[in-house]
Amino acid sequence: MSIRRLPEHLVNRIAAGEVVERPASALKELVENAIDSGAARIAVSLGGGGTTSIEVADDGCGMSPADMKLALERHATSKLPGDEIEAVATLGFRGEALPSIASVARLTVESRVRGQDGWSLAVDNGRPEGEGPAALPPGTRIRVEHLFARVPARRKFLRSERSEYAACLDVVKRLAMARPDIGFTLDHDGRRTLSVQPGEDRPARVAALTDRALHENSVAIDYDRGPARLGGVAGLPTFNRGVADHQYLFVNGRPVKDRLLIGAVRAAYQDLLARDRHPVVALFIDLPGDEVDVNVHPAKTEVRFRDPAGIRGLIVGGLRHALDNAGFRSVQRAAVDVPWQSAPARHSGENRNPSSFWTPAVAGVTDRVAETRAPYDFAPAARGESAFAPPPEASRFPLGVARGQVAATYIVAEAEDGLVLVDQHAAHERLVLERMRRAMANGGVACQALLLPEVVELDEAACDRLESRAAELTVMGLELERFGARAVLVRATPALLGNGDVKGLVTDLADELAAFDQALSLQEKLDHVAATMACHGSVRAGRILSVAEMNALLREMEVTPHSGQCNHGRPTWVKLAHGDIEKLFGRK
Ligand SMILES: Nc1ncnc2c1ncn2[C@@H]1O[C@H](COP(=O)(O)OP(=O)(O)O)[C@@H](O)[C@H]1O
Ligand SMILES: [Mg+2]
Repeated sequence: MSIRRLPEHLVNRIAAGEVVERPASALKELVENAIDSGAARIAVSLGGGGTTSIEVADDGCGMSPADMKLALERHATSKLPGDEIEAVATLGFRGEALPSIASVARLTVESRVRGQDGWSLAVDNGRPEGEGPAALPPGTRIRVEHLFARVPARRKFLRSERSEYAACLDVVKRLAMARPDIGFTLDHDGRRTLSVQPGEDRPARVAALTDRALHENSVAIDYDRGPARLGGVAGLPTFNRGVADHQYLFVNGRPVKDRLLIGAVRAAYQDLLARDRHPVVALFIDLPGDEVDVNVHPAKTEVRFRDPAGIRGLIVGGLRHALDNAGFRSVQRAAVDVPWQSAPARHSGENRNPSSFWTPAVAGVTDRVAETRAPYDFAPAARGESAFAPPPEASRFPLGVARGQVAATYIVAEAEDGLVLVDQHAAHERLVLERMRRAMANGGVACQALLLPEVVELDEAACDRLESRAAELTVMGLELERFGARAVLVRATPALLGNGDVKGLVTDLADELAAFDQALSLQEKLDHVAATMACHGSVRAGRILSVAEMNALLREMEVTPHSGQCNHGRPTWVKLAHGDIEKLFGRK
């Protein structure tokens, strides 16, 4: 085999494989270029989620006709005047985006330097398509059409227009968040979907791009450590979300998706949040150029820190400091060094036979009890009842009888053979999930119409996702329909959830759907969807329960499969056997 140097168009196409994965990545390069050009306003318009067309117009410095040609050559850049990559202050520096995009799409560049005439130049899948004078205001307008039309191997990997659009929206949001001084607009198929004014301050821009409510539900961060500085906003732990998508991280003004940073955020919130909940944060790290290497990946979304431990400390320390100052202390967790017996650890779902866990005597009544018992949405009763019944036979009631409630969160029960503690929310969530599963197996979940349909405002991509799954959600008892660009109208909710927080439920479901593959039906993802719903229909921690309610919960747990673990794999109850109590007091 003889070795040959690859022709330029092939080199570009190979590079495109790394730089241009999907419309959103091409868009990212174009908007970065517009930012680097010194623009005050950047207008993006997309057709078909970016698969048919992507256009980015800026009012920046523009290019001369000669520079336009150079820009389309590989490794041609105006951004490294010297040889020091460390000193780069622009978003771009590799000089490969434009030629890469031009090799897998039709690319038209129009540009005009102030005081000169405009010029236009087109390239089609690597082949020059002519050039000539163009009329446009000072600045640059770049149009990408039919991305991957000639690269079927790549085109095949594109997802629906809707999800490509969602990825594009995310790119614009992140870059717009990095630069509140610049105004951004985004149009999709002729409709304006995002608009932020130039010259905003950072918190206002972050709130405009995430959730207006973040303003009242976050704390500002301003923290130094060594040569690095951390700024931005941290959502309060109570303002959490079901997915980690709402974390915006920037290093020296560059949006990044970095495992180290994400891990540090998780660590900072660790004992403030349940493991499956995620905070909303926008964190801006600024540090000297020689402390960080941005040239790790062609798409420039990953970085490498010279002192990773220091950066982790910066984030954990900065977040903790900010959250503590807001009056939020981390939960103190006492280490209990006694042999509490708990429900068996997570089992792999369906194949577990409930009767092998609970005694055969109760397994037989599973269905009857589950069908006849109403959900726990009755009002909490007064606490005057007596709870002095003798502990029942362990073989019939392994979880015992309720003796009281601790911290309005845990049920204390006495069983014949020991002391039982139940996490009421985790346990109830599990029961609701199992009820939903049974209802689905029997043809669908009953819904309950809301007295007044509720309008829930969400971002457009979230509304799109919910709308596209509306028929499937109906089978699960949730009836909703599109209500304008950025809202859905909820008409009915699953009856077995009782009256809950509709907005919270719908917001979490939209997040949950974002994590799904389009190809999967909700039926296949039933557990996740049902778990999200169940969480909203459950007895909250902090709710006072009557003795009768507590006992009803214990009895239902005993006959419900998988009730020993919550939907996230944590135990729902623990038992301290009599022998263990004696050991604790040194009686044995
Ligand atoms: N919107 C724009 N306005 C002005 N100049 C631009 C614009 N887009 C690209 N350029 C010029 O084209 C060059 C090549 O762009 P690109 O291929 O993205 O590489 P890089 O951004 O890494 O330099 C840039 O260095 C810049 O000089
Ligand atoms: Mg660039």
